[in-house]
Amino acid sequence: MGILDGKKGIIFGVANDKSIAWAIAKALSAEGMELAFTYAGEAFESRVKPLAETLGAKMVLPCDVTKDDQIAAVFEKIKNEWGALDGLVHSLAFAKKEELKGEFLNTSRDGFALALDVSAFSLVALAKGAAPLMEANGGSIITLTYYGSEKVVANYNVMGVAKAALETSAKYLAADLGPKNIRVNAISAGPVKTLAAMGITGFKAILDVVEAKAPLKRNVSLDDVAKTALYLMSGLSSGVTGEVIHVDAGFSIVGI
Ligand SMILES: NC(=O)c1ccc[n+]([C@@H]2O[C@H](COP(=O)([O-])OP(=O)(O)OC[C@H]3O[C@@H](n4cnc5c(N)ncnc54)[C@H](O)[C@@H]3O)[C@@H](O)[C@H]2O)c1
Repeated sequence: MGILDGKKGIIFGVANDKSIAWAIAKALSAEGMELAFTYAGEAFESRVKPLAETLGAKMVLPCDVTKDDQIAAVFEKIKNEWGALDGLVHSLAFAKKEELKGEFLNTSRDGFALALDVSAFSLVALAKGAAPLMEANGGSIITLTYYGSEKVVANYNVMGVAKAALETSAKYLAADLGPKNIRVNAISAGPVKTLAAMGITGFKAILDVVEAKAPLKRNVSLDDVAKTALYLMSGLSSGVTGEVIHVDAGFSIVGI
């Protein structure tokens, strides 16, 4: 017996077995949730499909979140195969590598727009696609954010601005969808070594600072983050929406 037995969810953001989305998928699957996956472009298909199959996933669909037709096709397929949806995990972001170093002042217009489109607007677009499928039974939508939305983190730059937009989007979506018992929450994860994280200049130094200063005196694991996602996906968090929950070994509470 799992706490998500009979539930169906879709995971956006698996790139490989180090992805936060993959850790979350394993935790949800272990508690009985049936999962569908998406991948961003053909290059990721060969990595995501074999992983998804280990969890018994039957639907592994292409979805570049900048493409409205691909988003529509995903939810059409879910509607046809499942009829309804209980959960959605949005665990994706993108900024050009050159925007993730040096001064934020040098952010380009198109780099700003691209980072905000992929990393923040996509939550709105995916929530809009998922909501009609969640209306009958309620649902849970989870996104992943980072402390760089709240405080200046060297080199995080435009991604910090995108995460601020993402967190506020999650709150507005929570307000819109709350009457339908669809909850929207964000997990603000501490730094974890993933493909996306390695694109941030000086990422290793961030890990060292967290280990030294966080109350728990360590960095978080993928499992730490996945367990909070499980809580947010399940009825254990039935009264929680519009929240940004820090899973960061306490780093964000430390001042001087
Ligand atoms: N790793 C960290 O330290 C950390 C900390 C806090 C928050 N986060 C957030 O967690 C989420 C997952 O990142 P991760 O660290 O697991 O890295 P990851 O590289 O494993 O995952 C990032 C995902 O974004 C997807 N993506 C990029 N552009 C896309 C597009 N146009 N359409 C669809 N998908 C696209 C990639 O395919 C990839 O699967 C991101 O939102 C990231 O900002 C990461």
